[in-house]
Amino acid sequence: MTVAVDPSRSVGLEAQAKPVVFSGIQPSGYITLGNYLGAIRNWVDDQPRFANIFSIVDLHAITVPQDPVELRGSIFTLAAVYLACGIDPQQSAIFVQSDVHEHPELAWILNSVTPVGWLNRMTQYKSKSAKQREQTSAGLFDYPVLMAADILLYHANYVPVGEDQKQHVELARDIADRFNGLFGETLTMPEPSIRQVGARIMSLSDPTSKMSKSEPEGAIGLLDPPDVIRRKIMRAQTDSFRDVVFDRSRAGLFNLLSIYRLLSNETESRIEERFAGRGYGDLKRELAEMVVDALEPIQSRYGELAAAPDHVVGILREGADRVRPTAAETLAQVKERVGLGVARIGWP
Ligand code: TRP
Repeated sequence: MTVAVDPSRSVGLEAQAKPVVFSGIQPSGYITLGNYLGAIRNWVDDQPRFANIFSIVDLHAITVPQDPVELRGSIFTLAAVYLACGIDPQQSAIFVQSDVHEHPELAWILNSVTPVGWLNRMTQYKSKSAKQREQTSAGLFDYPVLMAADILLYHANYVPVGEDQKQHVELARDIADRFNGLFGETLTMPEPSIRQVGARIMSLSDPTSKMSKSEPEGAIGLLDPPDVIRRKIMRAQTDSFRDVVFDRSRAGLFNLLSIYRLLSNETESRIEERFAGRGYGDLKRELAEMVVDALEPIQSRYGELAAAPDHVVGILREGADRVRPTAAETLAQVKERVGLGVARIGWP
């Protein structure tokens, strides 16, 4: 990815001339190997190339019912796991969305330039609200506008998302375009960067659906103890063939081999050679040890961070302090364009 960026645009990070990447992450206390291999690991590797902003989106989380104690726990665990995975607060900003009040404030203003027709077309809203019927919150309907605000506040150039969030990033572009059309060039057009296929890790118990925290038996949690990891992998659903080959039509085996490939960085043919003449049992045993070994350093760093909660909270507070000036500047420009407020501008 190469883009022309305005070097004067600061995100409060040292490297100001780098493209700005905004990632919003739902707070969850159960983070899976799928999240790690599909997203977190790439973000960690990409840190030097981009000005990364990681926001733990607690205001999005409350659009569906949450237990307050669990929510706070999930925010903390998520932050600690990301730091344990190698998100480096020297290079990237990591903060909690609700600690920067500019997010909901910009969302409110953007609400007024967003036609409800656009929101009615959001497929995630349609499926989530169908389940909750009359209990569906107004916040859930408005969710994509808050997401647009998250992205537009920092003039983000790229937004790494899965397929399911692409429509929301497109909406953020439409909102930015509409705002700029009505009030003059103010907001930067973001681009979705869709994760590579092949990094999509499937459930171990149902390899036709994505590995998900909502189905822990089919998922490997980054904080699962070694014996749990071994048990889940040994029980992973496969088929009644024997030969260990990359064959997409054998979804369970293909998924195990994909995990093996991502962790070993070996080629498909090298892996097939390695298991030639051996069976699924051998693959599962070796894979289980590979996963246990890969997660060991993350789990031990997590243990250290969990034992020092003030340190983690300090990093989140500092992250918010770093991004807030940019958010405040964007919001002030937006308010000025729209004709809102007098305290800052006075009578021109
Ligand atoms: N909706 C995203 C998800 O569920 C989370 C999110 C909120 C987000 N704000 C964002 C993602 C801004 C990217 C950019 O995964």
